[in-house]
Amino acid sequence: MVLQETAVHAEPRIRPLFSSNEIHEFVDGLAWKVVKAFEGHPELYLVTVLSGAGPFSRDLQQAIAHRHPVPRYDARIRVPSYEGCESTGTHRIIGGFPYDPAGRDLLVVEDIVDSGRCMDFLVNELVRKFGARSVQVAALLNKPSRRVVDVPIHFIGFEIPDEFVVGYGMDFNGQFRELPYIGILENPDEL
Ligand code: IMP
Ligand code: MG
Repeated sequence: MVLQETAVHAEPRIRPLFSSNEIHEFVDGLAWKVVKAFEGHPELYLVTVLSGAGPFSRDLQQAIAHRHPVPRYDARIRVPSYEGCESTGTHRIIGGFPYDPAGRDLLVVEDIVDSGRCMDFLVNELVRKFGARSVQVAALLNKPSRRVVDVPIHFIGFEIPDEFVVGYGMDFNGQFRELPYIGILENPDEL
């Protein structure tokens, strides 16, 4: 159910999909699962894919911290390649690690997995180049119908259809990132 609050912030070209209350409920559910999966770990090592996953990562980490108050280290990186609605398929990692990923069990926090190319590149880099022992992925949203490369996602918030979504950190060429809810952008090609 989409709550009243979304109407207050409504943009004419955006069809509300998840209200901020709904988002916080499912982020909380994901936090439980992450805590369970990383139960025996005395520290957590995260990789947040900016800028889209910023709000998700912040809220997920807060929810995790309530239940599993161990030190957390977060590498806030960017994996650019995206222009408009189509991924170009060439990626690189921008940003450094505040910890050494070698030999560690990492949790990647991503806003949305679409074709899977970005996540496939990132997971491979983290393992092969940075020497991570394991990489698990938490994605707020998943668009399985768009998948080109098969990537494992261990913690998924919601599966959505093949639509372009914005809000709660996710943008369309820099727009709509700050919306507190998630909505479908109608006709992004016409903007
Ligand atoms: P992928 O490599 O095609 O899986 O997608 C990589 C990135 O594209 C995602 O992490 C998002 O940052 C961005 N992206 C894909 N779909 C959407 C969308 O519907 N809205 C906003 N960003 C998107
Ligand atoms: Mg992203």
